[in-house]
Parts: sequence; C-alpha cells; structure tokens
Amino acid sequence: MKIGIYPGSFDPITLGHLDIIIRASGLVDQLIIGVLKNNAKRPLFTAEERVAMIEKVLKDNTNLTKIKVEAFGGLLVDYAAEKNASIIVRGLRAITDFEYELQLAQTNHKLNKNIDTVFFTTSVEYSYLSSSAVKEIASYGGDIRQFVPECIVQSVYDKYKSLRSV
Ligand code: PNS
Repeated sequence: MKIGIYPGSFDPITLGHLDIIIRASGLVDQLIIGVLKNNAKRPLFTAEERVAMIEKVLKDNTNLTKIKVEAFGGLLVDYAAEKNASIIVRGLRAITDFEYELQLAQTNHKLNKNIDTVFFTTSVEYSYLSSSAVKEIASYGGDIRQFVPECIVQSVYDKYKSLRSV
C-alpha cells in the first residue's frame, strides 16, 4: 500500500491546495493531509480549525475515501515514517517556490532515505494563489470566493470578525 503525506500550514486551505489534493490522491492508495501544528508562522486558525475546514471541503468536493486529515507536530520525516508513508507531496507554483522546496525536499531525503518528495506543478489558474493573499484580502473585507472552496468562505470572514470584536 502506497501512502503519501501532503503536509502544509493550510491556513486556510485554498482552491490550489484542493487541486493538488485531488490530483495527488491518484498517485497513492492513501493520502494523509498533514496540518502543521507548531507553526512558526503563527497561523490565523488553530490546527483543529484547519483540520475541520479541510474535512468539510473534502466532504463537499470529493467522494474520495482514501484521504485522511490530521494535525502533526515535530519533524515531517518522523511523522511520515510513523504513518509508513514513502511519499511527501508538495505543490510548486512558480520559480520563487523552487529554492525553498528544493532545500526542504533534499533535507528531508537526507534525514530519511526511504522518503521521497513528489512535486505537482499547480494548475495555471492557481499559480498566483496563496493562503497569505487570501488572508490579506479577507482582512480588508475583499472577495475571496474565487480563491477558497465555497464552504469555508464564511469561516474566514468570521475569524476576522471575531478577532475585531476582542
Ligand atoms: O504550507 P507550508 O507552510 O509551506 O508547509 C511547510 C511544511 C509544513 C511542509 C514545513 O514547514 C515542515 O515540514 N515543517 C515540519 C518541520 C520539518 O520537518 N522541517 C523540515 C526540516 S528542514
């Protein structure tokens, strides 16, 4: 059984992530979406919220039972080994992603030779898209409907609303 991990911050999940999830699921028998818990980027959403949002998106957009969503902490290669995963899936948007992704993939391979990183080039319509841009647009009340799955649009606006009311 081929198990793949698609790790990331997913803060929040975008249509670009969803596109990669669907395409990567064709490559493996089981795809585990690993949501990074102890993230130095100080995420907007808690790990539990990000996991719940991804689960909702998957339920609304796919009928794939081979995808599982979990939060993880610590080193990615340790998490992958614990899950018996042999593949790490990452998306590449543009050349600007390349240096960081290459370093990550090579370091992970050095740490565990049994785990390889497979890259999916993002579909052209999502090549400019990032969770950071979604957050910035939403924080100013802009329209994020063309960037994130419909079922989580309100959750993103609600998060900013709740932050403004404290
Ligand atoms: O969506 P992101 O923020 O680009 O994802 C980055 C992620 C989660 C893949 C990366 O930060 C990660 O794997 N973190 C876990 C710690 C780790 O294993 N670091 C790699 C050693 S260089």
